[in-house]
Amino acid sequence: MQVTGEIAEIREAIARSRQQGCQIGCVPTMGALHAGHISLVEECRKRVDYVLVTIFVNPTQFGQGEDLDKYPRPLEADLDACRAAGVSCVYTPEIPSLYPDGYGTWVDVEGMSTILEGECRPDHFRGVTTIVAKLLNIIQPDVACFGAKDYQQQTLIRQMVRDLNMPIEVVVAPTVREADGLAMSSRNQYLSPEQRQTALCLSQALNIAEESLLAGETSIAQVEKRMLDHINSFDDVRPEYTVLRDPDTLEELKSLQPEMVALIATYVGQTRLIDNRRISLP
Ligand code: PAJ
Repeated sequence: MQVTGEIAEIREAIARSRQQGCQIGCVPTMGALHAGHISLVEECRKRVDYVLVTIFVNPTQFGQGEDLDKYPRPLEADLDACRAAGVSCVYTPEIPSLYPDGYGTWVDVEGMSTILEGECRPDHFRGVTTIVAKLLNIIQPDVACFGAKDYQQQTLIRQMVRDLNMPIEVVVAPTVREADGLAMSSRNQYLSPEQRQTALCLSQALNIAEESLLAGETSIAQVEKRMLDHINSFDDVRPEYTVLRDPDTLEELKSLQPEMVALIATYVGQTRLIDNRRISLP
């Protein structure tokens, strides 16, 4: 498995693999890899012969006072996990090679990037779509894999790829969860044992939303309130949103529709967690 932070070496390795007839897949990450990330590698390997994982804690998607400095960076363990998963190459760029002095070009998807996560974390998605566009431009993969865990992120990335005519198939893989339902996240390691228990409030609130809709609840406001009430029944939480939205546009719903998505963001202690559930009505 090749490991490099050099753009020239990445381009050379990919050109060589293409000459050998390989298709290229890419899994962008910020490291601290867990089974959710590895499931993306596996999805990619089903489709292509050469899988490249990027590990880069992208500073431009972190807001002031967010966890950029303390974000976990266990590089050796990440490389072991990539080797075990059959990754061909890991790209580990340093900040100056991607954001040199005088850097000034941004990729911004209008509209959806300013609601929900974008409202709570201004400029977050501008940082995400910019770095993903840069990585896809450097690597030029045939396939790129993202997780449904970050629902709004994958929706925006799919729109960016469409809007910029990037010849890339975007694959979205299901959220991988711990046995008790907590969505895996690199940020779960910030949680104390008590907070780890409290964090179950997200997946439980999504269960409540789905169960009430399947039981015939027709009021969107009621469903959103039940999710919120459930989260607020725990100590040490600060919910930011609990909503039921259109699964394509993430806009507010006027009435129930066959396909919807429930989305939650809440702090548990100092740790901000998100989760979501697609809900289909029979
Ligand atoms: P990161 O949080 O490291 O996640 C990398 C990829 O793994 C994303 O596509 C994310 O949706 C996916 N992922 C995370 N947890 C998952 C889970 N439990 N199940 C399935 N997939 C999961 O998301 C980012 O990094 C960054 O914003 C990035 C896209 C790399 C741009 O910097």
